[in-house]
Amino acid sequence: MSDRLAPAFAAVAGVPVDPVVRRSQHADFQSDAALGLARRLGRPPRAVAEEVRERAELADLCAAVEVSGPGFLNLTVADRTLAGMVSALAVDPRLGVPVVAEPETVVVDYSAPNVAKEMHVGHLRSTVIGDAAARTLEWLGHRVSRANHLGDWGTPFGMLIEHLVDLGETEAAQELSMGDLDTFYTAARAKFDGDDAFRERSRARVVALQGGDPATLRLWRLLVAQSESYFLTVYDLLDVTLSRADFRGESSYHDLLAPTVGELDRLGLLRRSDGAECVFPPGSVGRDGEPLPLIVRKSDGGYGYPATDLAALRHRTGALGATRLLYVVGLPQRRHFEMVFAVAAQAGWLTPPARAEHVGFGSILGADGRMLRSRAGGSVKLVGLLTEAVERATALARERNPELDEGEAAEVGRAVGIGAIKFADLSGDRHKDYVLDWERMLALDGNTAPYLQYAYSRIRSLFRRAGTDVRPDAEVSLADPAERALAVELVGFAAVVDAVAGSLEFHHLAAYLHRLAAAFSAFYERCPVLRAEGPVRESRLVLCDLTARVLHQGLHLLGIRTPERL
Ligand code: ARG
Repeated sequence: MSDRLAPAFAAVAGVPVDPVVRRSQHADFQSDAALGLARRLGRPPRAVAEEVRERAELADLCAAVEVSGPGFLNLTVADRTLAGMVSALAVDPRLGVPVVAEPETVVVDYSAPNVAKEMHVGHLRSTVIGDAAARTLEWLGHRVSRANHLGDWGTPFGMLIEHLVDLGETEAAQELSMGDLDTFYTAARAKFDGDDAFRERSRARVVALQGGDPATLRLWRLLVAQSESYFLTVYDLLDVTLSRADFRGESSYHDLLAPTVGELDRLGLLRRSDGAECVFPPGSVGRDGEPLPLIVRKSDGGYGYPATDLAALRHRTGALGATRLLYVVGLPQRRHFEMVFAVAAQAGWLTPPARAEHVGFGSILGADGRMLRSRAGGSVKLVGLLTEAVERATALARERNPELDEGEAAEVGRAVGIGAIKFADLSGDRHKDYVLDWERMLALDGNTAPYLQYAYSRIRSLFRRAGTDVRPDAEVSLADPAERALAVELVGFAAVVDAVAGSLEFHHLAAYLHRLAAAFSAFYERCPVLRAEGPVRESRLVLCDLTARVLHQGLHLLGIRTPERL
């Protein structure tokens, strides 16, 4: 519809206009673009809408095109067209979503916890959102490189290594592999703050580490490897696509730091400020109106977090040839990324078509509306949260379906518990904070993972009872309004996926899947499937099967499993 309306709008406007077609309460779709255009042209909006209506070639697509209200175009799809589209989807393994014509190399920087430190809920959000981005872009045919920018370098490693030495390697490995990262880190920190001799040893250790002392490097590797293994168990529990091969620790950019800063110097971009080497990107000013520097080399000669990000970015657009760089990191780091991108652009490392996006997100709040904290007041341990989700969901599964055996109940509990956490995260606007509310997340009704998983399992159970498979080339008829409403949702999948691949606002996909499941429910209440006969039964089975496939694929893009029975 958008493609057909665009030329008509362009003819009226004299310039390209986005028709902004969306789902409508009053018809199947509506376009509101005539209102804005009329304002620009200084004409009555209804007249503009009318002219677009006359010019647009919609005869084969629409049964009705009406100008309504102040100047909306209400579009009703012709039943035959709709049925034809459903039939085309039914035989298309990609459900109407084409592979992109021009695949890009996309780097998705996500998860990025820190060695010997517990992953916190911010890392959870990054992991969940980043994984959805990686899955979606990959499904569309892009070359996706997952970059887990592990915090595995920097001054804290002096004290961490010394603490490891104090504990003894075996003991330390034991503590770290059990995921007791906070205990380890806190103990190291306490000694560093309270023990002068320890602090001195730690400082010397950082120097040895940076100087490449083999014995120190060996201990450092031990620390990193233990943490990596632990993070991998979390990824496994969380069912995300990150693997060992995706770790791109900060340390891996070590050799690129000096050349990167050297290049900034050669380009004349470095300024010395309070003993540090800085770049002042244009447009970066603090609250007081003073220009803000990005510190690329500290006064002690060390390179820090910003320099590492510059080197990584330069590597990604340069050596990797990536044209789209995504950074899935919490909103507090927004300023950091703005400055890194601005400096990279100045240096010529980020030139179109290459672009970088900070895919920011808000915090997770507890039921009290404050930052999620453990009872002791510390940060909430991620594994604890995930385990709780799985336990709650398993208990619910047992209660609701006593027929499940132990193994099935555990599997369902995992799919539902983890699905609920992911969906709660992905179903709200990511820029906003969200409240972790177990009851709501695990509810079988509402905008939740269990609701969608339930819709899916209902359809699968219907096919088990039907004893037949769908015949995808069966003729589709949409005589009942509920069949028609379901069809309108089904054909909308491609547009939603396309939009989400651009905006990475997964709540639009989540909302779409919820609408689809609701339309299915309404259909299933009104329209008997197994009790219907002949062509009607066949047609309804096509609608059921397509709904299940779209739910499955859509949830899969969000990283959520669809068990065959709940
Ligand atoms: N390790 C960092 C943290 O925990 C996040 C790193 C994000 N990625 C990046 N390229 N800076 O805050």
